[in-house]
Amino acid sequence: MDKFVIKGNKRLTGELSISGSKNGTLPLIMASILSDNVSIIRNVPALADVKSMTLILEVLGAKAELSDAGLRIDPANCDKFEAPYDLVRKMRASVYALGALLGRLGRARVSFPGGCVIGTRPIDLHLMGLEKLGAEIEIEHGYIIAHADKLVGADIYLRGPHGSSVGATVNVMMAAVKAEGVTIIREASPEPQIIELASFLSAMGAKIEGAGTPMITIHGVEELHGAEHIVIPDRMEAATYMIAAAITRGDILIKNAIAHHMGAVIEKLREAGVEVANEANGIRVTAVDPLKPVGIRTAPYPGFPTDVQSQMMALMATVEGISVITETVHLERFMHVSELNRMGANIKIEGNSAVVKGVPRLSGAPIMASELRGGAALVLAGLAAKNQTVLSRIYHIDRGYESMEKKLAGVGADIERVSE
Ligand code: EPZ
Repeated sequence: MDKFVIKGNKRLTGELSISGSKNGTLPLIMASILSDNVSIIRNVPALADVKSMTLILEVLGAKAELSDAGLRIDPANCDKFEAPYDLVRKMRASVYALGALLGRLGRARVSFPGGCVIGTRPIDLHLMGLEKLGAEIEIEHGYIIAHADKLVGADIYLRGPHGSSVGATVNVMMAAVKAEGVTIIREASPEPQIIELASFLSAMGAKIEGAGTPMITIHGVEELHGAEHIVIPDRMEAATYMIAAAITRGDILIKNAIAHHMGAVIEKLREAGVEVANEANGIRVTAVDPLKPVGIRTAPYPGFPTDVQSQMMALMATVEGISVITETVHLERFMHVSELNRMGANIKIEGNSAVVKGVPRLSGAPIMASELRGGAALVLAGLAAKNQTVLSRIYHIDRGYESMEKKLAGVGADIERVSE
């Protein structure tokens, strides 16, 4: 297992580039099996999660090859319908196999993804949506077994207790594009990755309107064909590096970052006193002391993203005053708090809120990542802390950040990957 050894307390300056979006890429990989022809997806990030998704495709009988020219998927021989536990347990997005297999073969046997360290993550909305389209679903021995002689368009309301669901929207879209008739998804997730999926499916011949709004209308078509697509830049990666600039009171140009995908993050950084400027090829983030504490409440897009909550908390841990950070999407996503406190932060959890009292300086410590974004937050804390931080279990970070240590070293960080 690899670790990061970080010698912090350095102001980061320079420029770095954002890779293709992880959460944008994963649905596209699965959607490619809805046709029989080759699809090519470019700007695919080299990440553990992308690898896991292509392994699932291979188990289903498709061929997937990643080269400099992009990810080439040939689904012609995709005739298996089981996504086994060993692969699905690694990544929740593998549940997208349900909608894609139903759309392709009319049957699917997909391991139940189960809970994870950011709290229970049910899939009731996915199953309800697929049932509305005519699938019969049973849960047996930890597997979801779905079957449909014919999928038929339906009017589906997808709002859950914490707002819209990205994953349920993806699954229903994939099953609906070849269903007979019209499907309307109400309270659909409006996230950029849904627009991206709609644009890929449309390039494959699907008829989709309203992606990016809470109501998506899909006119089923009989067949789809292969398509080519370029993945959008990763807004969570971009937000993480924007906060790297802020937490080190540095000055970084984040190349290819798309500002309008990150409105809520930019607004909060500005409220904290961080300078965020749009430039021709990216976003420049500059910070100098003193910054101000800000209150944060996560919410589905376009609200403040839960996937940036922990990184913002690391920043607020270094800002004098009190900030309250409330998590409304993944209510238990606070695994990073005890580790930040080991570094001298002063954070108390009250229900689904964290009360953060800023300290003048964090101090390096041996710490451990427990999940992807929380892990990224600990890297940021290490960059700001005095002395050395040794962060273990960074395989969580490798799931979602391409070459993180290289990108950070390029802007002056002293960070090294060490194999245990
Ligand atoms: C996606 O997860 C992202 N993952 C997550 O990013 C992200 O945190 C999340 O959306 C919210 O933005 C991918 O895109 C691969 P949801 P997803 O369904 O689709 C509840 C990362 O760090 N819910 O939008 O699983 C659910 O419990 C990852 O990259 C139901 O109640 O999230 C949550 O409270 C972590 N029933 C809320 O909805 C359901 O059937 C939003 O979840 C489904 C969801």
